Amino acid sequence: MEEMKIEIRICSLHYDELNEEDRRLIEQAKEATQRSYAPYSRFSVGAAALLANGEIVTGSNQENAASPSGLCAERTTLFYANSRYPDQAVKTLAIAARNASGFTGKPISPCGACRQVLLETERRHGSPIRILLYGTTEIYQTNGIDNLLPLSFSGEFLSEQPL
Ligand code: THU
Repeated sequence: MEEMKIEIRICSLHYDELNEEDRRLIEQAKEATQRSYAPYSRFSVGAAALLANGEIVTGSNQENAASPSGLCAERTTLFYANSRYPDQAVKTLAIAARNASGFTGKPISPCGACRQVLLETERRHGSPIRILLYGTTEIYQTNGIDNLLPLSFSGEFLSEQPL
């Protein structure tokens, strides 16, 4: 038996350590929570994607009475970015969330399905996405979805030749 160790790297930062561009992106993600449609969970999530051409695309969670028909903020944003600007890589994705008491203190982290879509977005554009997870007490920053989704499934397997 051989044990494998997979290393992931995530930095914890404070807001004042961020540069102007990252702060602006986080502010846009926070603002996007105001456009969330979350009458069921009352948990409003916003995301802002900075694209290679400098455009910023935002999105929020959109719920549905038939709950699986709703969509998280991250996928809403990435699908919109990829359908509006199919040739533009996503450079950075900022995510923020608030409940009835305000923005979360701890950063929220994308669900499994959103991680899978982040992976696909990276692979299709061939460039890693910096991910900024906002919380009022700390911010997590990571460079590339491999840090949130190690040992992932991607399209490479579909065409892999048997050994
Ligand atoms: N949600 C997101 O939009 N992003 C996440 O990363 C986690 C959860 C949404 C889905 C649902 O509308 C609400 O938050 C509660 O789960």
